[in-house]
Amino acid sequence: MARPKIALIGAGQIGGTLAHLAAIKELGDVILFDIAEGTPQGKSLDIAQSGPVEGFDATLRGANSYEDIAGADVCIVTAGVPRKPGMSRDDLLGINLKVMKSVGEGIKQHAPNAFVICITNPLDAMVWALQQFSGLPANKVVGMAGVLDAGRFRHFLSVEFNVSMKDVTAFVLGGHGDTMVPLTRYSTVAGIPLPDLVQMGWTTQEKLDAIVQRTRDGGAEIVGLLKTGSAFYAPAASAIEMAEAYLKDQKRLLPCAAYVDGAYGLKGMYVGVPTILGAGGVERVVDIKLNADEQAMLDKSIDAVKGLVAACKAIDPSLA
Ligand code: APR
Repeated sequence: MARPKIALIGAGQIGGTLAHLAAIKELGDVILFDIAEGTPQGKSLDIAQSGPVEGFDATLRGANSYEDIAGADVCIVTAGVPRKPGMSRDDLLGINLKVMKSVGEGIKQHAPNAFVICITNPLDAMVWALQQFSGLPANKVVGMAGVLDAGRFRHFLSVEFNVSMKDVTAFVLGGHGDTMVPLTRYSTVAGIPLPDLVQMGWTTQEKLDAIVQRTRDGGAEIVGLLKTGSAFYAPAASAIEMAEAYLKDQKRLLPCAAYVDGAYGLKGMYVGVPTILGAGGVERVVDIKLNADEQAMLDKSIDAVKGLVAACKAIDPSLA
């Protein structure tokens, strides 16, 4: 059977890392696409030349034409601009919305059967716009945010508890921004919920609150350190986990920015929720029970996403 075709739209920091990971994990053959001439070709060649050393079988090719993504099984979109220090993800909206239009049209024309994972920020609004511009079914277009935000939370918790990151599970809901909702009640060390660990004296509520806040600010912390761009290793790893869930029909339960219509009382919008990812794309949105505090935090986050969507509609009235 032919190897899956993975099209990476955007060959910048995240795109290059995605290509490297997809090759090392042998998820399929990679097309690295960018408007910048030479960048996708150079990165593809460089990564391909690591193949004999790493021992992977995958072809990598750079492209500047959407025709080259034809028939892709998975498209991962990072095209656009990242933020610089002092910018919020929302500051990117105007520029990246135009990029989503051209990317969506390219996917619509050349890869209409793909599973599409959007990474471009501001995430929840961009994935919504990309789904509209591409015209693909909503279950085949998702945003990567929750896996990354949960990954940041899990990392900080594993350091606090001095336990393996593998044993820390975490849940983060809502929009990919300052209002995201890390759910401590549903986050555990090997099944022991965080509130129990506070009671057991493993940490204090104050320290846990500080970790929650650091998770919310996780992207900005890295932007502040890098100064020239935003995080790329963890975002790429997170999207690869989602792509793998689709390609291998793993039925993973992962938090994604998915189209929610009915669950959480929402009427048709993209926001971060737990989903089952498998060969059908988003096969299910998991509607977990929230207490009043959690629901209030989620409502605030949903309002922030709605504000971004309204801003997109004001810029491009073709968006419904
Ligand atoms: N079509 C295709 N590629 C484009 C387009 C476009 N219309 N516009 C810009 N690009 C390309 C740029 O040429 C660049 O190579 O997108 C790439 C973006 O790469 P980086 O600037 O390195 O950004 P990166 O760190 O990869 O982040 C990309 O993901 O996490 C988000 O906020 C981040 O929105 C940003 C995106």
